[in-house]
Amino acid sequence: MGHAFFNRPFEFGPASSQSVSFLTHFVCALVPLPGVPSGHGIAFVLSSSMDFTQADPTQYLGLFNISTNGSPSSHVLAIELDTVQSAEFEDMDKNHVGIDVNSLKSIDNASASYYSDKEGQNKNLTLLSSDAIQVWIDYEDSLLNVTLAPLINQKPSKPLLSRTINLTSIFPDRKAFVGFSSATGSLNSYQYILGWSFSRSRLLLQNLDISNLPTVPRFKKPKTPKKASPPLIALLVLLALIGMAVLGGVYLYRRKKYAEVREPWEKEYGPLRYSYESLHKATRGFHKDGRLGKGGFGEVYRGTLPLLGDIAVKKLSHDAEQGMKQFVAEVVTMGSLQHKNLVPLLGYCRRKGELLLVSKYMEGGSVDQYLFQDDRPTLSWSQRITILRDIASALCYLHTGATQVVLHRDIKASNVMLNGNLQGFLGDFGMARFDDHGTNLSATAAVGTIGYMALELASTGTSSKTDVYAFGAFMLEVTCGRRPFDPDIPIEKRQLVKWVCECWRKGYIVDAIDTRLKGKFVCGEVEIILKLGLLCTSIVPESRPTMEKVVQYINRHQRLPVFSPDTPGIGVLTPVLIGVPSLRITSSSRASLVSAPSVSSSSSNNSMFISHTIIYGDGR
Ligand SMILES: *[C@@H]1O[C@H](CO)[C@@H](O)[C@H](O)[C@H]1NC(C)=O
Ligand SMILES: *[C@@H]1O[C@H](CO)[C@@H](O)[C@H](O)[C@H]1NC(C)=O
Ligand SMILES: *[C@@H]1O[C@H](CO)[C@@H](O)[C@H](O)[C@H]1NC(C)=O
Ligand SMILES: *[C@@H]1O[C@H](CO)[C@@H](O)[C@H](O)[C@H]1NC(C)=O
Repeated sequence: MGHAFFNRPFEFGPASSQSVSFLTHFVCALVPLPGVPSGHGIAFVLSSSMDFTQADPTQYLGLFNISTNGSPSSHVLAIELDTVQSAEFEDMDKNHVGIDVNSLKSIDNASASYYSDKEGQNKNLTLLSSDAIQVWIDYEDSLLNVTLAPLINQKPSKPLLSRTINLTSIFPDRKAFVGFSSATGSLNSYQYILGWSFSRSRLLLQNLDISNLPTVPRFKKPKTPKKASPPLIALLVLLALIGMAVLGGVYLYRRKKYAEVREPWEKEYGPLRYSYESLHKATRGFHKDGRLGKGGFGEVYRGTLPLLGDIAVKKLSHDAEQGMKQFVAEVVTMGSLQHKNLVPLLGYCRRKGELLLVSKYMEGGSVDQYLFQDDRPTLSWSQRITILRDIASALCYLHTGATQVVLHRDIKASNVMLNGNLQGFLGDFGMARFDDHGTNLSATAAVGTIGYMALELASTGTSSKTDVYAFGAFMLEVTCGRRPFDPDIPIEKRQLVKWVCECWRKGYIVDAIDTRLKGKFVCGEVEIILKLGLLCTSIVPESRPTMEKVVQYINRHQRLPVFSPDTPGIGVLTPVLIGVPSLRITSSSRASLVSAPSVSSSSSNNSMFISHTIIYGDGR
């Protein structure tokens, strides 16, 4: 039920004055709900009290309850627009207008209709129709007239109800609150008052501006749906359960699919940490079409990130969590290194058993592709020497430019990347630490690529000298177009260092050059590069120049030191060097060094794990 009252009582005036009168004009609309019985109606009310908290809804219209209905102490006059036929109140039908004095049993009533002056006859009116209805209630000279009409009509000349009432006998206090009351109950409907004017005299009654009234609010769908049958409810519950199971499954699947390993110490690397989901998306789920390579340490995929553009994602599998913190710290530190010839490392991501490194994608591919694959153009001599200068500069920066010496540990042709202009970029630094067994991430792991690994790696571990050795091997490889160690060719040429040295010994070192260059090269430059390559690959670490020196030699800012093919340590790979004065490994000059490398081949052809056993003994 609902009530709307003017907040001050209407005073009838002093008893001595002329008879009481009032006039009112209002517009209402009763809106049924489609397909359901609607009710109960609305009433214009004069009441001595605005307190209807004890009143009942439904047929009591929010005005009475069973005990107050019919009681003279109620002091209520109501004009009801009733849309339900209630037998207890002797209602005539479910579309009537009634005058109620202290009781819902009307003292006068009539079916809703209006007098059409145009047609000269009464016309039916449906109260519960959603159409706005005008109602006039006039009380003058103890006569109460009730008149109805559709919105578009003028006030009919004949009222629907006309009844003599003694208002002061209903309201002995000579005052009453005026307003509206309506109620529904188990039935539903919307009951609106769109406009209302009230006055004690005909002259003062304001006209309602019919054209400016609010429109009847459109029917709103009831909030509670139609009662569903039990099988339907069961079906809905089942569907909901299935939906939840599917959603849960999807959630668990995504959690598993995109699961990462994150630890508190990684907080400081926040910006460098990528989510697995973003990398998964960037590489289209690590699609095999985007695979750039597969090496001893893992697979590399090409991808695209929205802001960074093309990236390369390296997936390294590992089993060990041990040492991971140090390794990630190192990798991240390396990511902060800035040199124009270093492949920029953008970040990383960690999962269980997997580490992913994100770096910029190099569209030119790696140098070994140009040297050993037929589908790539041959690099000219000037391109090759440019690449060597680029890489020497990058390596020199790693060794001297940063706050601490950074070792690359795995310089080789497949780790030298090219951009579109065939400039060289050193990539994958520090990777050699990450051995593919995943069990040992410690600094002493002698891991690298055969042919690029200095002999002393096994005994004294990595140093800047071992990087120089690998760079020397790379210089020879690029110049000669031949792998440092090629098991598939005749034994005398198999070891590149040995063979280059042999060419020199025979009188002309430039003979070792890549045959594809066919005389299109600068002899003097080639000679310097090959000799420098031999110097760097000396098995005597102390004989190797520093990277700073290498840069000076390679740019011809300084002359190479004088040495020959017969200089100890040059052009040899076998560690048995008896009586070499510069080899300060043992205290005795007569001691011999025997190395028995045990080589275990890994999944890749030229990536191997080597553990040397070095035996010191008496040469005699
Ligand atoms: C009806 O209302 C009156 C007050 O208006 C209250 O005293 C009475 O208890 C109510 N009766 C019922 C049955 O609710
Ligand atoms: C009420 O209606 C009667 C005719 O039915 C009319 O004579 C009388 O003036 C009306 N009274 C008011 C207050 O409109
Ligand atoms: C109306 O009722 C009051 C008191 O109930 C009475 O004094 C008065 O005379 C009545 N008026 C008419 C016109 O009957
Ligand atoms: C290893 O090399 C041989 C020939 O040199 C080649 O056929 C084979 O595909 C290579 N294997 C891998 C894993 O690279």
